[in-house]
Order: sequence, then structure tokens, then C-alpha cells
Amino acid sequence: MYHIDIMTLFPDTVGDVLSESILGRAQERDILRIDAHQIRDYTRNKQKQVDDYPYGGGRGAVLQADPLYQCWSHICGKYDRRPHTIYLSPCGKTFTQEDAKRLAWKQDHLILVCGHYEGIDQRFIEECVDEEISLGDFVLTGGEIAAMAVADAVCRLVPGVLSDAECFKNESHWDVLLEYPQYSRPEVWHDRAVPPELLTGDHAKVERWRRKQSLLRTRERRPDLYEKLDLSSKEDQKLLVELERDLSRTPLPQPVECRPAAEEDIPAIVDIVAQARAWMDANSIDQWTEDYPIAEDYLRDMARGECFVLTCAGQVGSVFTFYSRPEASYAAITNGKWSAEEPYASIHRCAVGAAYRGSGLAEHMASAWERLAQEQGLSWVRVDTHKKNKAMLGLLRKRGFQYRGNVLVDARPPHDPRRVAYEKRLRHPGPDVKKNI
Ligand SMILES: C[S@@+](CC[C@H](N)C(=O)[O-])C[C@H]1O[C@@H](n2cnc3c(N)ncnc32)[C@H](O)[C@@H]1O
Repeated sequence: MYHIDIMTLFPDTVGDVLSESILGRAQERDILRIDAHQIRDYTRNKQKQVDDYPYGGGRGAVLQADPLYQCWSHICGKYDRRPHTIYLSPCGKTFTQEDAKRLAWKQDHLILVCGHYEGIDQRFIEECVDEEISLGDFVLTGGEIAAMAVADAVCRLVPGVLSDAECFKNESHWDVLLEYPQYSRPEVWHDRAVPPELLTGDHAKVERWRRKQSLLRTRERRPDLYEKLDLSSKEDQKLLVELERDLSRTPLPQPVECRPAAEEDIPAIVDIVAQARAWMDANSIDQWTEDYPIAEDYLRDMARGECFVLTCAGQVGSVFTFYSRPEASYAAITNGKWSAEEPYASIHRCAVGAAYRGSGLAEHMASAWERLAQEQGLSWVRVDTHKKNKAMLGLLRKRGFQYRGNVLVDARPPHDPRRVAYEKRLRHPGPDVKKNI
């Protein structure tokens, strides 16, 4: 059993906090024992006075050495070995997770001494204290909060207190790094979506995303810790390249919104399509032709309520067409098959303006497809693209779309009608899915 004895002027406060929840249950199971001792009970005067004026003058009072010593000796007398004694003090070494590990695994009994007023008589420290620990570079009224913090951090590392060592192994400061951001249901809350990587069900992808977020957080928030990291592995080197690229992106002008396209958007849409076509030409991607897609295609989509734009601070940055009806060319699929014969959404004629390439707008667009589909009660989104369209393929993979086979689209010779077809299964829409994107 791991023992902690806390010497304090406020034993009830300390005892109440440390007997709650996980530490309380560990005490019931005899894995831990935490006792709080009233220093005042060890005075040898009638008034139970524990403090007196500081020698040399000055304000305040100092906890006297003798009541502290009497209390400490009483605790030590109950054990064969002298417990490791810690004085909680702003003059101590700042407490870290490494200290918590050391105290949890190399000791089995601590005495935590809480000071009050101006502090405690130095002679008690010299005679009885093994180390001084500070909670940080600030001054508290008393040592109780610091003692509770140290006791809590140490106790949760004591074997058996938490159900599994994995519970604390990936946490912040375990291995220098800060922890990645955490999310729980629903998938969209107040218009904020859970990062798509966490919904892929692909364990390796999730781990990669988490490591990257941890690196990013540590680098941004704690450069002092980041400097200590060993990032020489191949995987980390790759993540660092990605991080640099992400960080060099200019932030998207806010707000980013998705709305049904209107006729006035046509000039912007035509420009965006021309930029996308130029990019395809430059990359030898035979996907779009001079006469497809053109303004008439989008006007027809708009008339059916199927054309949408994404705007950044009011400027149209991307366009796409969303079908909630079956797409004729998807009926015949080769080299694979669709997952289910269920209603699906399909995405067509999508493009992102040249000024927004690499800005993250494409991901906003993909998230809008998924939200539209969920609003319409569709569980699947299907998309086709040219096998050389690396930008689209990258986006689809990042969003968790899976290759299902090949389809043929309506393309006039000599253009290539072959497309690779992808699909994503959506989770059931939660109550917070936004109604009018
Ligand atoms: C008001 S403080 C005394 C501060 C002391 N006069 C000084 O300037 O260093 C009273 C008690 O609070 C506790 N305490 C205050 N700040 C602390 C910190 N940062 N970490 C740990 N304990 C602290 C200590 O036990 C201390 O004896």
C-alpha cells in the first residue's frame, strides 16, 4: 500500500478532496492510504498556538518548528522507515511529471508538509525535510492546494489506482509532448466538426493525426519542451514536413460559408473553373474539356437547387454540384463495387479557385458535401475523379473516402472517359447538424 501523510492546519479540506472519485476508490481498495494530520494537535501550549513573530521583525507570522516536529515524529514513529518528507514551498523545485513518476515508483511513503502564514521555521526544514517542491512561480496562501496537487499526480501513477497504465501513458508530459486535442459526440457541435481523420476508423491514420497535433501543440505552446524532443525518426521527419507546409498556409479569410449558388455567382464560378482547367492542363490531366463544365452546366444545376459555392469573407472561393439523385454513370462499375445499394449523394463539377489552393478550403468543401448529405438523410457520398488528379485524390483520402472501382463518364473522343470512383459512409447525422449550409 502507498501511504501519504499530510501535515496541515486544515485537515478536513485536504481529506475531503483526496477521498473523492478515483483516489477515494483506491483507498477503499487498500491500494492507497492518505491521512491528514492537524499540526495544532501537537502543540505543547494551552492556547494551541502554532505560529509566532518572525525574528528580525517584519509582517506576518511563522509556523514554529516544534509543533511541526512533534507532528512529524508522531507520524514517523508509526513506521519502520523514515518516510520521504516534502515541504511544499514557492522556494522549492517546480513540480513536474518526472517528479510524480519518481515519487510514485521510487517511494512508498510520503509526508507532505503544508506551510501557512509567512512559511515555516527553517530549522524544521533542515532537520526533517528531504526536498522542497513548488507548484509554480506564484505564491499561495497555504501549502494545502500544492500538497493535494502533488498527492493527486503521484497517486494516479501508483500501480492499480487507474485501471490501466495506458490511461496515463499517452497523456501530456508523459514523454515530453503535450497531448493532442480530444473530441467526443456529437460529430458536429455549434457548426464545429470533429477532424475527419478521427472518423476514418483507420487506427494508423488516427495515431498519425494525434502525433502531428501533439507536435504542433508542443511547438506552439511549449517551445522549451519541443526543443527536448527527439524527432529523428522517419515518421516524425515526414510529419514535420507536413507541419511546415500547414503552417505556411495563409489563413482563410473568415467566415467560410457554404450556400446555394445564385446567378450573380456565375462570373466568379467561370473564373474558378478556368483556373482549375489551367491547372489540369499544366498537370496533363484529361478530366475537363473546353466545353465541360461551362456556365450553362452550373445554371442548369442552380435551377435544380444542386449548385453550391463556398465563400471566404463573402468572396466565392469554390463551387460544386451536389446530386441527391442517382448518377447514371455510376450504375456500371468495374474493378470493384459500391458498398451498398442505398441512396447516396454524388459530387460533380467541383473546383477551388487558384488563390485558395493549399488553403484548406477544399476540406471545408468536402465537409459541406458530407453535411448536405447528412441533412438529406443520405448515408453515402460518392465522387469520381481522374486517376491523375492528385489534388482530388489527396482530398478524398484525407477525408476517409475509399476507392471502390472504375466508372466511365460521358466524355467525347479523344478525351479519356475513365474515372476512379470513391465512396464514404457517413455516420448518422447528430442533432447538431446545421440546417442551412
Ligand atoms: C504565503 S506562503 C509563504 C510564502 C513565503 N513567505 C515566500 O515568500 O516564499 C504560505 C505557504 O503556502 C505554501 N505555498 C505558497 N506558494 C506555494 C507554491 N508556489 N508551491 C507550493 N507551496 C506554496 C507554502 O507551504 C508556504 O509556506
